[in-house]
Amino acid sequence: MNRKTVIITGANSGIGKAAAQRMAAEGHRIVLACRNPDRAEAAQREIGEDTIVGLVDLSRRASIHAFTDWAHRELGEIDVLINNAADFDLAHKEREMTADGFERIWFTNHLAPVLLADRLMDRLVASPQGRIINVSSMGLLFHPFLTVDLKDPMFNQRTFSVAKAYYQSKLAQLMYTLWLSRQLSGTMATANCIRVSNVRLDLDRFPDLPQWMKNLYAIKARFSITPEQMAETYAQAALNGDAGNQTGQHIGHPFKETGIPVYAKDPLCIEQVMQLTYKQLGIRPSISYEQPETG
Ligand SMILES: NC(=O)c1ccc[n+]([C@@H]2O[C@H](COP(=O)([O-])OP(=O)(O)OC[C@H]3O[C@@H](n4cnc5c(N)ncnc54)[C@H](OP(=O)(O)O)[C@@H]3O)[C@@H](O)[C@H]2O)c1
Repeated sequence: MNRKTVIITGANSGIGKAAAQRMAAEGHRIVLACRNPDRAEAAQREIGEDTIVGLVDLSRRASIHAFTDWAHRELGEIDVLINNAADFDLAHKEREMTADGFERIWFTNHLAPVLLADRLMDRLVASPQGRIINVSSMGLLFHPFLTVDLKDPMFNQRTFSVAKAYYQSKLAQLMYTLWLSRQLSGTMATANCIRVSNVRLDLDRFPDLPQWMKNLYAIKARFSITPEQMAETYAQAALNGDAGNQTGQHIGHPFKETGIPVYAKDPLCIEQVMQLTYKQLGIRPSISYEQPETG
């Protein structure tokens, strides 16, 4: 077996943990990239002591820098990055800002995965089958006209809604994937985005959820798949030999290419979102596709 090094963010619970478990069982070297040391170590005990814990709080730029510096120092090769973690608490009513002055959902769910991948890009493109896997949501189907608000992505002027903030961040991740797959042309690396279906959530993780929402989730759970089922699609995208040729795809569950909203695949809109993204991050992309010279 070709043993891969796979970094999974948010690997201490839900789909991230199930995916870590699934891939560790196949003998791959799994890095549990989590923010909370106790929860990370509990997951490590459950999954296997040969997994590696790397601490990263994706709402803090300094923590992402510290994590990527550690990864460069300690990991050697990195084959796969799965940007799974997300800020996803529907009980969250008010806009919250990070210590660096960003709206928390926008930063954690969109800017942070871009920054993380960017800072690990040298290793990912050096791998013979580097893969960057981002995560969107099936819920985007219920927001067919959603766009990224280029003027106000962080709800400075408009009224904050956790659902709007969350789906905007997931749409931006999908657009980032399409952009990145193009930047990676001419390298061996690929970028794809998994569209997560309705997956059972551990409601104990959301103690502040009002009772009516808990009841709603209990009903929803009857139509949900398990994190372990969803993790199969993660594992295929990360490790499957055939998936190595696929890039710029939106992948549904079970593993299959799925549709992309018209807005999200418009090249101009993608360019605008990515210009905004890198401007907010205050960096230049570490990889950029250069058109081969003709004539
Ligand atoms: N469940 C669904 O039905 C569903 C549907 C559509 C899309 N998704 C997507 O699927 C992915 C996994 O979701 P899940 O259902 O497995 O949810 P989950 O069990 O709540 O897992 C989310 C993970 O993200 C981590 N996280 C949150 N904020 C973080 C931060 N600032 N820094 C580092 N880690 C952070 C959490 O860590 P802590 O334990 O420390 O909080 C947790 O490990 C997410 O991208 C989610 O948006 C899920």
